[in-house]
Amino acid sequence: MTGSVLDLGLPEAVPLPGLPARVRIHEVGARDGLQNEALPLPVEVKAEFVARLAAAGLRTVEATSFVHPKWVPQLADAEQLMPLLADLPGRHPGLRLPVLVPNERGLERALAHGVADIAVFASATETFARRNLNRSLEESLEMFAPVVARATAEGVRVRGYLSMCFGDPWEGRVPLPQVVATGRRLLEMGCDELSLGDTIGVATPGQVTALLEALGRAGVAPDRLAVHFHDTYGQALSNTLAALRAGVSVVDASAGGLGGCPYAKSATGNLATEDLVWMLHGLGIETGVDLGALADTSVWLAGHLGRPSPSRTVRALTGG
Ligand code: HMG
Ligand code: MG
Repeated sequence: MTGSVLDLGLPEAVPLPGLPARVRIHEVGARDGLQNEALPLPVEVKAEFVARLAAAGLRTVEATSFVHPKWVPQLADAEQLMPLLADLPGRHPGLRLPVLVPNERGLERALAHGVADIAVFASATETFARRNLNRSLEESLEMFAPVVARATAEGVRVRGYLSMCFGDPWEGRVPLPQVVATGRRLLEMGCDELSLGDTIGVATPGQVTALLEALGRAGVAPDRLAVHFHDTYGQALSNTLAALRAGVSVVDASAGGLGGCPYAKSATGNLATEDLVWMLHGLGIETGVDLGALADTSVWLAGHLGRPSPSRTVRALTGG
């Protein structure tokens, strides 16, 4: 990238005490981002998107979902996408390509493509469980239990997402004990990692700190946790900093700030990966990501989607 502020060594790295030396970014653009697009993208474009993200240094790239194709038609081509990803040119040996799996049918489909990482996705609230999974909260956990057990037995890593941790568009405030209890259930079920979702982007940093402290008191250490912030109210980066201060070192983000959930009223884009990387590199925190290559990828994808990236950093770096 010529003439970029990156050539001038910006952002200047000035560390703050008490933060992790390295952050693993869990890139969700190809899944959370594309599940919400009105225009379905050709499967070859999706494969190239994943390839470009990996080439930009991202090592965990959530690829797609094996959910019911009628529920999320945007990702109905999971079966066509997976073989294209198996043959990515110059695939890094450490590259992980998790996929979302809601039930045993989804797991069958994913295992047929040799996936090594899956994610189940629960809700901290009753209403979103019903809207997103057509199940009560309890029934949805019952649906996940055999998925997690079988995946674990087959050596597949399992992430557990927990949505609506900080507010729900139907139920309003979500009591902390309810979030902690449901999160613990996912970990006790056998999930390797728990990703705390602010599905509608309403959280503020004090809330994030309070939830992480409450989880700590309940025996859940930050090394089991990831954070997943949508950026509806522009709070995602400050919430991320609060989480880093509490010891979390896995952060979900979406290239270019794509994202949202078709079943969550008022969900908008995820924290943009470029905005996150700008802050982390400015704090002297390693990510392994080439910010210029990542921003170029988001501009390239925006061309396919027919609208500019909402990421401030992408716009600042590329004028796009
Ligand atoms: P259901 O309609 O209750 O399904 O949907 P069912 O179990 O009654 O089965 C009905 C039929 O669907 C059966 O076929 C099944 O085989 C088939 P039939 O016997 O009638 O011919 N079926 C499937 N087919 C293909 N793949 C499958 C599958 N499952 C059942 N996996 C279900 C229940 C969970 C499947 C549905 O509600 C669903 O797919 N939901 C997914 C919704 C979704 O993907 N939401 C977005 C992701 S979550 C998110 O974005 C939040 C997150 O980012 C974190 C945050 O921001 O907070 C992760
Ligand atoms: Mg999400």
